[in-house]
Amino acid sequence: MKRAYIKNIAYYVPEKILDNKYFESILDTNNEWIVTRTGIETRRMAREDETIFEMGLNAVKNLQNKGVDLSDIDTIIVPTVTKDYIFPSMAGQIQKALGLKHCFALDFSAACSGYVYALNTITALIESGQSKNVLMLCSEKLTKDINWKDRGTAILFGDAATASLITGREDGRGVLAMDMQSEPDLTIVLNGGSACPIRAEDCDGADFKIYMEGGETFKRAVTEFSNSIDRVLAKAGKSLSDVKFFVPHQANLRIIQAVAKRIGLPMEKVSVTLNKFGNSSSTSIGLALNDALEKNKIKDGDLVLFTGFGGGFTWGSTLMIW
Ligand code: UT7
Repeated sequence: MKRAYIKNIAYYVPEKILDNKYFESILDTNNEWIVTRTGIETRRMAREDETIFEMGLNAVKNLQNKGVDLSDIDTIIVPTVTKDYIFPSMAGQIQKALGLKHCFALDFSAACSGYVYALNTITALIESGQSKNVLMLCSEKLTKDINWKDRGTAILFGDAATASLITGREDGRGVLAMDMQSEPDLTIVLNGGSACPIRAEDCDGADFKIYMEGGETFKRAVTEFSNSIDRVLAKAGKSLSDVKFFVPHQANLRIIQAVAKRIGLPMEKVSVTLNKFGNSSSTSIGLALNDALEKNKIKDGDLVLFTGFGGGFTWGSTLMIW
């Protein structure tokens, strides 16, 4: 049976680093609160004129710099919550930039669950035979949507892009099971769609920036992380003790620690990059995976668990034999 697996991954982050001292200078906050309540020390901020297309293409070039040939890509999937255009899609723009003729390109949004939703969707496309070589590109410019006056959210988010090459293999390794759920909820909102269209005079208004009820979201994230993990393990006939490495969404270190404790994994077996990059939505899991691979923390044959939770709400997991 053909299983999907992540054959390679690369990333790009903008040069500008925002540290916690910067937020001390603009908000009633301090480094100690931010580090103890979130685990975040720095995050990246794109240039004003830097688009998600440019960041995404830089991640793609970094993938090519690793020797990856993208000429036989037949599918491009971009799960992003921070689009450059309503249309054309970001995936379509990347298809054009790569000069790919026989390819289909699709954007969708699942907020911070984007990486897992895309990985699971791509798994289904590969298992069905529809797709063979898939480029999954995550690119987010969340700093353009930050309410810089809201200390509860401004400190959390950063910009980044990841490019993952996903293909099939038949030796038993790859994705074993998937889980995805969502539930309509307005606890995290970003207006500007047809329900609440943005007008020129609203551009800097708080209603058109990221709004989040942090406490409620935190509780729900811990609960649904755990529920999703239970379901994906049950589908694969595995138990918590089988999991060898955990790559979670990077929203808050306390959420990650709580879930790791429940799985029974020491923190050395959990990838954490939010200290450097903050929460960069769909790119967070890719950044964390890339970091774990660079540090040789994941061994061939390890059962690796990916879990995401995001606005919407959305949540999901993927279980993969590396
Ligand atoms: O990626 C999508 C999913 N997102 C998440 O999963 C995020 C989940 N939520 C969180 O990570 C946390 O809820 C936050 C980091 C957003 C907030 O942390 P918290 O420990 O839940 O704080 P809180 O919202 O309950 O606020 C506690 C206090 C409040 O003050 P009072 O009312 O007790 O006087 C806040 O005003 O902390 C205050 N506070 C701050 N103080 C200093 C909130 N933000 C800050 C800040 N600096 N940056």
